[in-house]
Amino acid sequence: MSNRGGGGRDLPGRRSGGSPPPVVKKLVLAYSGGLDTSVAIRWLKDKGWDVIAFTVDLGEKKDLDAIQARALKVGASAAYVADGRIPFLELFVWPSLQAGAVYEKEYPLATALGRPLIAAMMVEVARREGASAIAHGCTGKGNDQVRFDVTTAALAPELEVVAPVREWGMNRDDEIEYANKHGIEVPATTRSPYSTDENLWGRSIEAGVLEDPWAEPPAEVYAWTRDPRQCPDEPAYVEVGFNEGLPVSLDGKAIGALDLVTALNKIGGESGVGRIDHIENRLIGIKSREIYEAPAAVLLLQAHQALEDITLPKEVARFKDLVAQQWAQMVYDGLWFSPLRDALYAFVVETQRHVTGDVRLKLFKGSSHVVGRKSPMQLYQLSLATYGKGDVFDQSAAAGFIKLWGMGVRTSAQVQGRLHGRDLGNLLGEVKRLGK
Ligand code: ARG
Repeated sequence: MSNRGGGGRDLPGRRSGGSPPPVVKKLVLAYSGGLDTSVAIRWLKDKGWDVIAFTVDLGEKKDLDAIQARALKVGASAAYVADGRIPFLELFVWPSLQAGAVYEKEYPLATALGRPLIAAMMVEVARREGASAIAHGCTGKGNDQVRFDVTTAALAPELEVVAPVREWGMNRDDEIEYANKHGIEVPATTRSPYSTDENLWGRSIEAGVLEDPWAEPPAEVYAWTRDPRQCPDEPAYVEVGFNEGLPVSLDGKAIGALDLVTALNKIGGESGVGRIDHIENRLIGIKSREIYEAPAAVLLLQAHQALEDITLPKEVARFKDLVAQQWAQMVYDGLWFSPLRDALYAFVVETQRHVTGDVRLKLFKGSSHVVGRKSPMQLYQLSLATYGKGDVFDQSAAAGFIKLWGMGVRTSAQVQGRLHGRDLGNLLGEVKRLGK
């Protein structure tokens, strides 16, 4: 082939004079099988890299054999396929569920949690293969590049990171042209106007018409969740059992992580649960609009929260909210592997000791609600809460407590006067008064 990418200008392997042939350097590329990373294989080869493709299954139901074969066909010298589903759930998703991590009150972090695992696995492949770099197909505008780069820095600072899409300056049409020119088959998904990412914890959809934040997402963007109008007319119920903050049973039967999340994605999706429309703040300062489908994540986060509501002491619960926010932000910002996230986890684990029990959820036409919760360790005590018989609460103790509780306010009012900044004026307005 005469006309290579880059116009033959800085082709590796081009020899000047009598210098020795260049040492071929190896890298491990995160390979999805899509257009970007397929073009990347060829582009990297032309830059002189020996490319090892790496694909990991995080539950996206892709034809992994076909992806592996395609990597070799396009020019990789080896292609790995790994099953990351269990490590993803156990090492990344479960701790984040225990933490209660939701980014900006909306996003359960599916994509963000997947990246550090993928990068960590690639580091392992790089070591096994004696590669000196890892590569990914992320753009220079998103969060994912940060997650790959920083994870690599944290786990293998000696490895270089190469990001072809950040460098090559090709738009989609250029890429298709490049692919055609190099005999790279353009995948069917390339025609979709949307960019999607998916794993067991959720599906992310952006671009196309979604870039207009005023535009309602068209039905076609959803793949996991039913339109509420097409949902059953009867509610569905699920019961999730937890042990120390981790879900262990579904409807009373013990179940493993993978089966549980798969089942809840299906059950939730059928009731239209888990659709999220989020304008989010990317780390690099851009606001973007992303649609998420995350039925299992929404249900499990809801259930876990409900169990914490009856088992965590007030002060722990309040402080843990701050930790959850910090955790979510760190995961989003690519800092999974960091000293602070490790330290936060020690706190989270300590809080989960009594988060054991069952939660019942009701799913109906796009929404889900907790309708029951119980725990052998619950701090909710009927004898204290009840207004009925069996009340053991000593109401007379309240008076003295409140006298001290309000002491500061009373003193301020007595010494310094009115405590509200502006005149409350005539709050009563016209009142009806009857008297004799
Ligand atoms: N905005 C999400 C995040 O940064 C998802 C990114 C990937 N989205 C996509 N549609 N490819 O975690």
